[in-house]
Amino acid sequence: MNRIFSGVQPTGNLHLGNYLGAIRNWVRLQDDYECMFCLVDLHAITVWQDPVALRSNTREVTAGLLAAGIDPKKHIVFNQSQVPCHAELAWIFNCVARLGWLNRMTQFKEKAGKNREKASVGLYAYPNLMAADILLYKATHVPVGEDQKQHLELVRDIATKFNNDFGTALFPVPEPLILGEATRVMSLRDGSNKMSKSDPSDLSRINMTDDADTIAKKIRKAKTDPEPLPTSQEGFKGRPEAANLMGIYAALSDTSVNDVLNKFGGGQFSTFKQKLADLAVSVLGPIDSEMRRLTGDPAYVDSVLKDGADRANAIAGPILAEIQEVVGFLRP
Ligand code: TRP
Repeated sequence: MNRIFSGVQPTGNLHLGNYLGAIRNWVRLQDDYECMFCLVDLHAITVWQDPVALRSNTREVTAGLLAAGIDPKKHIVFNQSQVPCHAELAWIFNCVARLGWLNRMTQFKEKAGKNREKASVGLYAYPNLMAADILLYKATHVPVGEDQKQHLELVRDIATKFNNDFGTALFPVPEPLILGEATRVMSLRDGSNKMSKSDPSDLSRINMTDDADTIAKKIRKAKTDPEPLPTSQEGFKGRPEAANLMGIYAALSDTSVNDVLNKFGGGQFSTFKQKLADLAVSVLGPIDSEMRRLTGDPAYVDSVLKDGADRANAIAGPILAEIQEVVGFLRP
């Protein structure tokens, strides 16, 4: 049996980058794998989260997953804190992973910045918790973007070391699942920066909750250059905005960038932007309205998460017991 585990932090708004880079791929995995989709609230608090915002973001991101087409009956959608085994296994992995391994993590270095002494211990141990997420369910595959590849390598090292240390084959060593042409969506205001929820300009991103008019306006205002659109991939050199907008068109229409170059190359940005806006509205519009409906029904969203946590606990409990047995904890 192949099982997928995937996590998303319930912090801030979902945007087009999250949708094309991750969520849409998750939707597509549902036919071929048994999937666990986890709102990783324990990971979120490795940096300060306002408690009221954390709770409402957890509901909102869940609504986004459901609106995008995740099926919570066939698969499991839950928030991490409601399955205590994650934290328990993370502790065991704190004792398996080596300081030297964590010292190499580039994401910690970036997030902690210059003020390393003030970073939380949780931020440092973050990858061990991620290992617990995945291995607690003996997941075999993990869909990962570029930024999580190093963490998944560490998860594989932890699984391997645990198995070796205890002379067991308890954990499968999970494989990364890298899906199709990687869609890295960049800021609409600066094609060399990633689209991000923390960009101060809302015009830089398309949020999954933006209505049709807002989406069209943001695309109209997106940064461009004065040249006509390039006709081949070489033409993207020095033109990150053209590359970004044409890449978004390809992803939203499920075609290749070369198809988009053939169709629009040599034309004007203004005409292309109109087509892109229409396409974006046709893909995102239905998701946006379903998301609004769901955020208006928090009791339903909560019931999905409750049911998900019950089912996740039922899988995790026996596996944690098995792990405790191997480690040598007395289970009277
Ligand atoms: N670290 C991931 C991120 O920030 C989120 C995450 C937590 C995750 N646990 C996971 C992703 C397990 C995949 C599998 O994007």
